[in-house]
Amino acid sequence: MIKQAIIPLAGLGSRMLPLTSVIPKELLPINGKTNLEYILEECLDAGIKEFIFVISKKKQSIKKYFFNDSFYKKIIKKNKDKRLIREFKKIKKYQKMIKFVYQNNPKGTADAVLKCKKYIKNNYFLVLLPDDLIVNKNCSKEMIQLHKKTKGSVIATKRVDIQTVTRWGILSIKEKKKNYFTIKDVVEKPSVKKAPSNFAIIGRYILPLKVFDEIKRIKRGRGGELHITDAIKNLIYKNYKFHANIFKGKYLDCGTLSGYISSCIRIFKGK
Ligand code: G1P
Repeated sequence: MIKQAIIPLAGLGSRMLPLTSVIPKELLPINGKTNLEYILEECLDAGIKEFIFVISKKKQSIKKYFFNDSFYKKIIKKNKDKRLIREFKKIKKYQKMIKFVYQNNPKGTADAVLKCKKYIKNNYFLVLLPDDLIVNKNCSKEMIQLHKKTKGSVIATKRVDIQTVTRWGILSIKEKKKNYFTIKDVVEKPSVKKAPSNFAIIGRYILPLKVFDEIKRIKRGRGGELHITDAIKNLIYKNYKFHANIFKGKYLDCGTLSGYISSCIRIFKGK
């Protein structure tokens, strides 16, 4: 049963300055909707019942976006705007599902995940990186189906241009089936020469409880951060089952300014 999703939201967003100097990147709009709401909709549709947002003191506006009742109530009382009433209802629904956890020093995705440990109730949970926007097909839903079939952990992957492997976590294959494969190993941002394949991790993971112990053991890697990739690598070496779900839907990279701009254009055009 995958019912909880961790969403790391404490990153500084420096790749998207100056837009992110006052607005968190996750609240930037894409065709009339915030980036974060695309992620939440994907989760809801996949059956997720609880969101754990990892934010920082500097990103309190994310909390305010979802918890600003008096502001809405005042306006709705005055003009009874139907669209606004609908939006407020949606926000009220999210309110019941969101928990906040703080990560005031951005020490990486693994550290963000570890901060949520005390809230995780089931043996497996979902992690979504909001830089990676996925539309037209529900990647989390596909992964949950694969998890039910394989009874193990799942990572979303897609083939990338071999010249760009240095930007991703890259997987190596143990046994390939039609739409998925068993993962043999994983390496964070390898050189083109050392990359074991061009199957890149896109920001969706179904992880086991055991990952928390492994995160406590890993050392800081690239950029002085604790990478979830390193904890996963150790679990694979200890024979925990990890499968890669080969995702064929539309993937949009919203973690850089140029990626954000082209994502806006592609969503707007429906391409
Ligand atoms: C993170 C992960 C990387 C993954 C990528 C997907 O990198 O560490 O393994 O391929 O997300 O977007 P980041 O984008 O934080 O550099």
